[in-house]
Amino acid sequence: MKLEDIKKICVIGAGNMGHQISVCCALAGYKVSCTDLSQDMLDKAETFAKTYLPERVTKGKLSQVQADEALGKLSFTQNFEEAAGNADYVIEAAVEKIDIKRKLFADLDRITPPHAILATNSSFIVSSQVADATKRPGKVCNMHFFNPALVMKLVEVVQGAHTSAETAQVTMDLTAKLGKTGILLKKEIYGFLVNRILNAINTEALYLADMGIAAPEEIDLAVTNALGHPMGPFRLMDLTGIDLAYYSTMERYQNTGDIANKPSPLLVEKFTKGEYGIKAKKGFYTYD
Ligand code: 3HC
Repeated sequence: MKLEDIKKICVIGAGNMGHQISVCCALAGYKVSCTDLSQDMLDKAETFAKTYLPERVTKGKLSQVQADEALGKLSFTQNFEEAAGNADYVIEAAVEKIDIKRKLFADLDRITPPHAILATNSSFIVSSQVADATKRPGKVCNMHFFNPALVMKLVEVVQGAHTSAETAQVTMDLTAKLGKTGILLKKEIYGFLVNRILNAINTEALYLADMGIAAPEEIDLAVTNALGHPMGPFRLMDLTGIDLAYYSTMERYQNTGDIANKPSPLLVEKFTKGEYGIKAKKGFYTYD
């Protein structure tokens, strides 16, 4: 399997990450089929593509031909078999629940052609946790994008002990073809590089807010103005999803039993209220 063998990419999940990864792949010239259980999510993803691409033309960042070609390469369907059945490369960006991912990988193994690579965009789950649900562990790896995926330049590729060198290489080549910078990790570690660093920042920011030392807006102001980050940790959690922050912290807490990993009261409160951030129009901030 080589980069040139990839003609069609299937993206599983039309949510926060999947819809932008789909557009990103279409802009790089791939036929893309994005699939989700929810028709509503698929409709939103399609509307995003139909709005975003013309906007890029208006901004002078894309020619009309490029936008039309990308749009022509995208399809959004609830039909999982139709989306994955003839895919050469699959990027799974579904909900961060291990049982669901394992079932998806078992189904993908059954449905996709034997040569297809199955990658997970999970934010923290290493691919060895899903590879053994397939009969092709050598073709399973992590390919982790950052939000917003159309903007952020980095992709973490994780080559687990089960992942073949060929799969890791093709994934790094695909990353470059998408215009991204790839980092190849040859050891699996929970949260990889970036989310481990981000988690340390978020944990401290939540602790300071929980202790009443400063309000989320003040902490964000401090981080943007003193450290030069484009967004403070609370605004960033609103962007990436408070549900995701909760699930990842909870999973880590359950796996380690370490009290230091217990989700902060403020995070639990936001999660319980369904205030997941931008997608819920309310998180640490309120959105129109
Ligand atoms: N979708 C697509 N494009 C977007 C966008 C979005 N949601 N938000 C902004 N953009 C684009 C704009 O179109 C613009 O593009 P252009 O310069 O080519 O015209 C460019 O980004 C800059 O946009 P703005 O001027 O409107 O806004 P900002 O300069 O404030 O940038 C930002 C917005 C890019 C989101 C910036 O604030 C940023 O980089 N924030 C940090 C994001 C970050 O840290 N991401 C990683 C999160 S961790 C993660 O994803 C882990 C995962 O596991 C969840």
